[in-house]
Amino acid sequence: MNAFLEPRKAGLKNAVSIIRLFFGIRITKQWGIVLKAILMISPLALWGGCKAHVSEKPIGAPVEIKVPLGLPPIPIPADNLPTAETISLGRRLFYDKKLSKDNSLACATCHNPKRGFTDGLELSRGVGGMIGIRNAPTVVNAAYLPLQFWDGRAISLEEQAASPIADPVEMNQTHEVSVTKLSADPVYKTMLLKAFGSEEMTIGRVEKALACFERTILSGNSAFDRYQFGGDKKALTPSQIRGLAIFSDPQKGNCTTCHTIDAKYALFTDGKFHNIGEGVGDDGDFNDVGRYHETKMNADKGAFKTPTLRNIANTGPYMHDGSLKTLKEVVDFYAGGGNSNPYLDKNIRAIKLSGQDRTDLVQFLMSLTGEMPPNVGPPKQE
Ligand code: HEC
Ligand code: HEC
Repeated sequence: MNAFLEPRKAGLKNAVSIIRLFFGIRITKQWGIVLKAILMISPLALWGGCKAHVSEKPIGAPVEIKVPLGLPPIPIPADNLPTAETISLGRRLFYDKKLSKDNSLACATCHNPKRGFTDGLELSRGVGGMIGIRNAPTVVNAAYLPLQFWDGRAISLEEQAASPIADPVEMNQTHEVSVTKLSADPVYKTMLLKAFGSEEMTIGRVEKALACFERTILSGNSAFDRYQFGGDKKALTPSQIRGLAIFSDPQKGNCTTCHTIDAKYALFTDGKFHNIGEGVGDDGDFNDVGRYHETKMNADKGAFKTPTLRNIANTGPYMHDGSLKTLKEVVDFYAGGGNSNPYLDKNIRAIKLSGQDRTDLVQFLMSLTGEMPPNVGPPKQE
């Protein structure tokens, strides 16, 4: 008998006795052998499992993301505290066309920084010109959204990040192929080593890094913020000040009910879903049932997530179906009280707005174009 095995055998015998003691069960000789076998194999299985598992925990020191005037602190999940390394990895991925089947599209193609992180199209266009079903929303300030997408089907930026890659009308490339393509790039190997402690690319690492970068795409410190929160009463024009009053007045625009302005910050979204009577045909049919897709509750038919209005001057065309081209059209739409349908939100009703009121509202919306952080554009070529 090999002396080395002796203590382990004794250990196993003890382990079986402990099980017998704790569970108060009588263990026959045969069961004792089976139990010993399981106990012997389990550390091996555990070791094998650990080896196959690539850690998705960032290794660097967490950094604080500076928030501009008019925004609250960013909610950040405890298992993905941003580091300088995960943010720069996410930035490179966001601008990398290798994430699409024919290397034609990056996240930034549809969320283009030059267009307020949207694509300027009515409906987004995927690989091979495939037309999607919805308008690409901005990713600006998406860090604050409790739920992602027009219908809220993703609960976090991490969960959202990998879905456009595999979506047939977007990047149309499986996660396996994406990981293989990215793994062939030596720049990523170096970046992964610094960010996560080893060179392997995994879809979980892609998700975490993209989410870290997206949390830095913030817009605040607009003329509105300087007026409202910075004490600069000259930051807005008289027309914009009147527009703000109409926007906030429950008897007039009533816009802040959903596009919220709080005491110390303004996200311009309540993060909730409403049917504002947009995308409803004359026959009362919806072109898209929106939130209902997720909840299957009638009250959610035709309800979409309230979008932020920050940088709204740069993110047209508007609404989930991109059907309204200009801010003037949006304001006229609200004045009309939306298309009637059984699920119309109770806060949507026809509003009396003079021509001047409408101009003032549009002028106010133009004051929400903020300052973007310096490091959210395409990274320098390595
Ligand atoms: C082909 C165009 C296209 C590409 C490429 C694309 N997106 Fe999108 N993105 C969209 C559209 C359209 C939506 C809205 C879809 C919906 O709500 O059903 C969206 C929604 C989002 C949202 C949710 C924002 C919100 O307000 O709810 C985020 C975040 C986002 N995309 C990030 C990304 C990332 C990260 C990538 C790259 C991995 C990416 N997108 C690639 C078109 C695109
Ligand atoms: C009941 C909640 C609610 C109220 C009140 C409301 N909105 Fe909206 N707003 C939404 C929702 C939800 C959407 C997206 C609807 C869709 O796409 O079908 C939206 C979309 C928009 C858009 C387009 C944003 C984009 O990125 O496409 C603008 C601009 C806008 N609203 C401005 C206003 C103004 C101005 C007012 C006041 C006159 C107002 N909203 C009142 C909920 C509301």
